[in-house]
Amino acid sequence: QSITVRVPGTSANCGPGFDSIGLACTIYNDLELTLLKEPGLSITVHGEGEENIPCDKRNIVWRSVRYLLGKAGRDKEYRGAVIRMRNHVPLSRGLGSSATAIVAGLKAANVLIGNRFSRRELLQFATEIEGHPDNVAPAIFGGFTVSTVTDGRVECFSFMPKSRLRLVVAVPDFPLSTRKARSVLPAQVPMKDAVRNIGKAAMMVAALCRGNDRFLHHVFDDALHQPYRARLIPGMYDVFAAARKAGALGASLSGAGPCLIAYTLERRHCEEAVGKAMQDMFHRHGVRARIFTLD
Ligand code: HSE
Repeated sequence: QSITVRVPGTSANCGPGFDSIGLACTIYNDLELTLLKEPGLSITVHGEGEENIPCDKRNIVWRSVRYLLGKAGRDKEYRGAVIRMRNHVPLSRGLGSSATAIVAGLKAANVLIGNRFSRRELLQFATEIEGHPDNVAPAIFGGFTVSTVTDGRVECFSFMPKSRLRLVVAVPDFPLSTRKARSVLPAQVPMKDAVRNIGKAAMMVAALCRGNDRFLHHVFDDALHQPYRARLIPGMYDVFAAARKAGALGASLSGAGPCLIAYTLERRHCEEAVGKAMQDMFHRHGVRARIFTLD
């Protein structure tokens, strides 16, 4: 039997919440999965990534399906699959494309074996595959999520913000692997930077939960990862400044980048101006960028 699942793209970190805060956005990938008793793999990809995503055993959807079947002790029963991916989330840009693939594979396989696992268990598996929870958590639970990992166990709190935000995402025309963007991070950070980030991350979550928009200025700043990654994204801080000048509350790297995301209030109706300002500033730094406005 087959199943089709839809999973949202996500933006991780949201500035100060490195490896813990994330949000789901209104851009989606669809996956149709058929499990086969006999060996054999047929994978097709339409849309984003159709030229780059491997269509063999390395495929991340297939690896996630195998992971879940293994956990359920059903991996000898189902040896093959037909996988159809219809993707809208740009690949390797910082909008959680790998998390959508992992979560889609886990969710679809879980339904096909009778929903053996809860969403919390799927989050645990997804985090084990991805290595950090901040993209997979919103892909599973939706909304904003705060996730922590303690001794390998993931906890996740998800909420719908009371503030009505619109997200303006600038998607540069070059990919950046998460591995590369993590390789430039230092092993240690100054105490004052850590303290600053804790305050901003906590303020962001509190203000979004209560809908206190006036506390949302400056909460999207970061000192733990963005300064080190800035050299991988030409003009990053200038694009942030341009977004703010055009009316955004603030801006951050989306996940490990290279997408930059600006946070605007719906009632300000400034998404178009913010998008244009970000695109123009990127252009001045020699980067061509597509603009998406998402919720
Ligand atoms: N928190 C992760 C990072 C997200 O910034 O490396 C990667 O998608």
